[in-house]
Amino acid sequence: MISISRRTLLKGSAVVGAFGLGAGLAGPLGKAFAAPDPLLLDARFADAMLDGRNVTKGVMAYTSAGSQVEVSPHGYLPPTIRTQRGKPFAARLINRLDEPTTIHWHGIRLPNAMDGVPFLTQPYVYAGDSFDYAFSPPDAGTFWYHPHCNTLTQIGRGMSGMLIVEDPADPVFDGEVVLNLRDFRLGSDGQFIEQFKARDAAKTGTFGTVRTANWQIDPVEDVPAGGLVRVRIAATDVTRIYNLKLDGGEAVVVALDGQPVASPYPLDLTVVSPGQRLDLVMRAPDGEGQMVRLMDLRPSTPKVVATFRAVGTSLNRSLGDIKPLQPNPPFEADIKGATEIPLVLSATAEQASRDSICGTLGYSFWAINKVPWPGDSADPTAPLAELKLGRTYLLNLENLTPHAHPIHLHGTNFKVLASSKGPVAPLISDTYLVLPDEKVQLAVVADNPGDWVFHCHIIEHQKTGMTGYFRIT
Ligand code: C2O
Ligand code: CU
Repeated sequence: MISISRRTLLKGSAVVGAFGLGAGLAGPLGKAFAAPDPLLLDARFADAMLDGRNVTKGVMAYTSAGSQVEVSPHGYLPPTIRTQRGKPFAARLINRLDEPTTIHWHGIRLPNAMDGVPFLTQPYVYAGDSFDYAFSPPDAGTFWYHPHCNTLTQIGRGMSGMLIVEDPADPVFDGEVVLNLRDFRLGSDGQFIEQFKARDAAKTGTFGTVRTANWQIDPVEDVPAGGLVRVRIAATDVTRIYNLKLDGGEAVVVALDGQPVASPYPLDLTVVSPGQRLDLVMRAPDGEGQMVRLMDLRPSTPKVVATFRAVGTSLNRSLGDIKPLQPNPPFEADIKGATEIPLVLSATAEQASRDSICGTLGYSFWAINKVPWPGDSADPTAPLAELKLGRTYLLNLENLTPHAHPIHLHGTNFKVLASSKGPVAPLISDTYLVLPDEKVQLAVVADNPGDWVFHCHIIEHQKTGMTGYFRIT
């Protein structure tokens, strides 16, 4: 966790007066302070306790320069960044690692040059260098940020933070909890073990050994008794797909992947796969000290993800009192005039992938339209398709593999139109979990020019071939 010296805090407050509400920063408990513009983000190494027993060396972290950082027993959870819809946001990545990195702002519709993909959208940020990101997010919601270079190692060792875009007109809740869900692959001595096994990369991906929320095993979050609490969840793990439900309490789903749902519905085994987000409104229990548990039921043995503990005297709210979230800009597609793009997800013949400064796993197991991505390179394969600015396209995705793939599109959103697995909700999203043997149709409006990657967010799949890009001109 980050502690702020009083001086920094005062300096920060002065900035609020000078520039209005700039980029804000908050720890997991939501204590916000204003940060100078741009927000300074150090990518760095740290030692931290992740398994509750040992100090893990070589954690990769984001910390905010200008704030004092202590080695906390639950240390180095990347800062939760808060900004506002439509307001300019700026962050300076300062690379204090010993290898190149970049930041991708997952789910944010932004200019291509700010997207953080080495070669396609920006040069690497070498050790000792910095890079300025700036954009005005058009959508409010729960998003996250992470590197797009040597991604399995850098995310795997801790570089994934929450990015919250607020709408000042959103309803006010009695509390808010932010949960960044992920695993770490640690041995029994608490040190990192090899990040992946090739035979697992060719299947579901390699799972971590220590499951955490906010870098802690089953953290306990205090919530106001009888209150309505917004819970913002992101699955930032490189592999794990969650199937979430509450034990001992009630909650409704109010947004998926940053986009408000048409009408809130009860949380009941909701799937959240790598890259995806889930916003809940939970009604906390009335009795002081009563607990509600967030449970993961995938694959089947229930595991506690986090615990909520009611504090204070009951506020006596009801889930029926929830006011709707502010809508994001409407998704306007010309479905009738749309062009279809077939996209087949498959396994590929095993072969070594090209060496890359951003890390290679040394294998290729997966392909999109039979082409395995060769790795980040100055000479990438051709785009999956070239899209004309302003036109609508229908991505006809077909998963020929026996594994689920959370497919993520950069730069714009899609709308889920139809699936071979049955009726679909008309979700707007940036990450869709394509099930084994599923055929799904996603509508995309080519409204943002540039080269936009499209990849599986199981990072071993991404890095062993299941990546491509669209060119919008
Ligand atoms: Cu969250 Cu290309 O990634
Ligand atoms: Cu995949």
